[in-house]
Amino acid sequence: MSTNTPSASITDPSALLDERFRSAIEAAVPEFDPSRINTSITASRQPKFGDFQCNAAMGIAKRIGKQPREVAAAIVANLDVEGIANPITEDDIAGPGFINITLLPEALAASLESLDTPELGITPPVEPKTIVVDVCGVNLAKQMHVGHLRSTVLGDALARLNERSGHTVKRQSHVGDWGLPIAMVVEKLIELEDTGESVATITLDTLNGYYKSAQAKCKGEHIALKTIIKYGGHPKALAECELRIEEADAAMERAKSRLVALQSGDERSVAVWQRIYDITMTECLATCARLNANITDEHSAGESTYRDELAPLVDDLINRKIAEEDDSALIVRVDGIKAPCIIRKRDGGFLYATTDLAAIKRRVEKLQGDTVVYSVDSRQALHFRQVFGVAHKAGYDLKADGTPANLVHAAFGTIMGDDGKPFKSRSGGTAKLSDLLDEAVSRANASVAEKNPDMPESERAPIAEAVAIAAIKYADLSNESIKDYVFNFDRMLAFEGDTGPYLLYALVRISSIFRKANEAGIDTKEALTAPFLLNDPAEKSLALALLRYPRTLGGASDNFEPNRLCAFAYELASSFSSFFDKCPVLRNDDAESQASRLRLCELTRRVLKDALDTLGIPTVERM
Ligand code: ARG
Repeated sequence: MSTNTPSASITDPSALLDERFRSAIEAAVPEFDPSRINTSITASRQPKFGDFQCNAAMGIAKRIGKQPREVAAAIVANLDVEGIANPITEDDIAGPGFINITLLPEALAASLESLDTPELGITPPVEPKTIVVDVCGVNLAKQMHVGHLRSTVLGDALARLNERSGHTVKRQSHVGDWGLPIAMVVEKLIELEDTGESVATITLDTLNGYYKSAQAKCKGEHIALKTIIKYGGHPKALAECELRIEEADAAMERAKSRLVALQSGDERSVAVWQRIYDITMTECLATCARLNANITDEHSAGESTYRDELAPLVDDLINRKIAEEDDSALIVRVDGIKAPCIIRKRDGGFLYATTDLAAIKRRVEKLQGDTVVYSVDSRQALHFRQVFGVAHKAGYDLKADGTPANLVHAAFGTIMGDDGKPFKSRSGGTAKLSDLLDEAVSRANASVAEKNPDMPESERAPIAEAVAIAAIKYADLSNESIKDYVFNFDRMLAFEGDTGPYLLYALVRISSIFRKANEAGIDTKEALTAPFLLNDPAEKSLALALLRYPRTLGGASDNFEPNRLCAFAYELASSFSSFFDKCPVLRNDDAESQASRLRLCELTRRVLKDALDTLGIPTVERM
């Protein structure tokens, strides 16, 4: 899928070379199927081999039974790289048949010119799409835990990537705000109120406690069983068991009738539910804001908002014979998936899957999504395969033009602790997200203080906050999302290596170059329109790294892979660092070279900042 790449050919010399080599290969080996041509042009690892190399000859030779060097020679004989690279002759064929390519410095400079625009070479797609992104998805009466870090951070990055590429993005947070577990908490609060307890100042922590105790109370069998084990067959034990089971059944009945009351709009139930909703969402949205994730109230589309759509949806599936009865539950079978999708329980209640079907319908029909992408834990893979399958069977995924929307589960792996098990808090429970953020900030604060002993606390605090958030987010985004990763403060907060702080530091260095330049009376404004002079290998590498931006951004957004943009940012920062070590900017007597280098610095700053903004990673001016 490529909706966003036309811009790349303007600025990326590797794309231009790809075109030229493709035609040369077609002419050189007409017997080779043109649709199978892969020019395999890669950046050279050593400057003595030029800037790029074409590795296509070996693969083609094998397929058509010729010598690789012979094929390479035929490609070279048919090649026209005028205007892009130095003329290529047989002398440029190396080893078994690599073709070395050295770009014309002026071609590289011209490409950089076209990148150095306000849009940074990113042109809007020919056909902008509407992308609905399922983000965050917290649950009422529960703290945001470490798992919601990923759905929030990755989901928001997917949204930003597609926005930056020029698509229309609609975020939807599928808040778990409906159903029996929530009714249990509503019931609990109403009972408390009835016994005269004040519930006016309840916090999310307290609600979280009620959630757990209400669950335990309704699942009395466990307690009962334990009691039997404890007392054996003693009549006292049995009596106790019976009592507990009765209590649990009664609690469950009360929760069920509370759900019915809620469903039918009973004023008091709804008011209490609203309180629980507000307490939870106020705190969760504050955490989203702290994470620099663009997730606000307007993106909340909780399960409760579908409550009146579930019964008609299920009726529709029954009438069209898509759903069938199975042991008094209602199920839909999907080809290729063993487990049927249950859409109504035996007791008549609807399920998580039912709500997600209604959500697909709304997202495609009402929100007009061409693509609906879900940033959700990979452990829900079966759920989404089932739900996507049912939606497709029922035609709920059909767009206005009659074609199906693209439904994508952008699944992510688990955050692990150093012990290789899913990450837990020190006390062994699920780790509360805000506690993790606090710890990262306090560690970042110590590092920043160590590096800047004279920095006043008021200046340091916001920097520490941004560095910590950048570190956590980059660690989460830079791995291939589907993989599990180990959460390690020391590693993610390091100022060196593939980390968030390292990227921020590159920006800080560039800002400081400009501060010093201005202090030295250099006309930095003038420099920003100076011609690019790219003679040193480090300047060339930096230019090549910069030029990969539009294509990388397109690839990351089209494939829902923020890690590609992270890898780009890290390569860019590393190229910058080598450039900075080898090519003096301010201690440079050649005024033209100095101006060119200042302009390269500024372009690097803008591209890196744009990439980090697109990932939702906050930046700082000093650190
Ligand atoms: N509330 C769910 C959970 O915490 C996540 C919701 C994901 N989105 C969805 N459309 N099912 O597991």
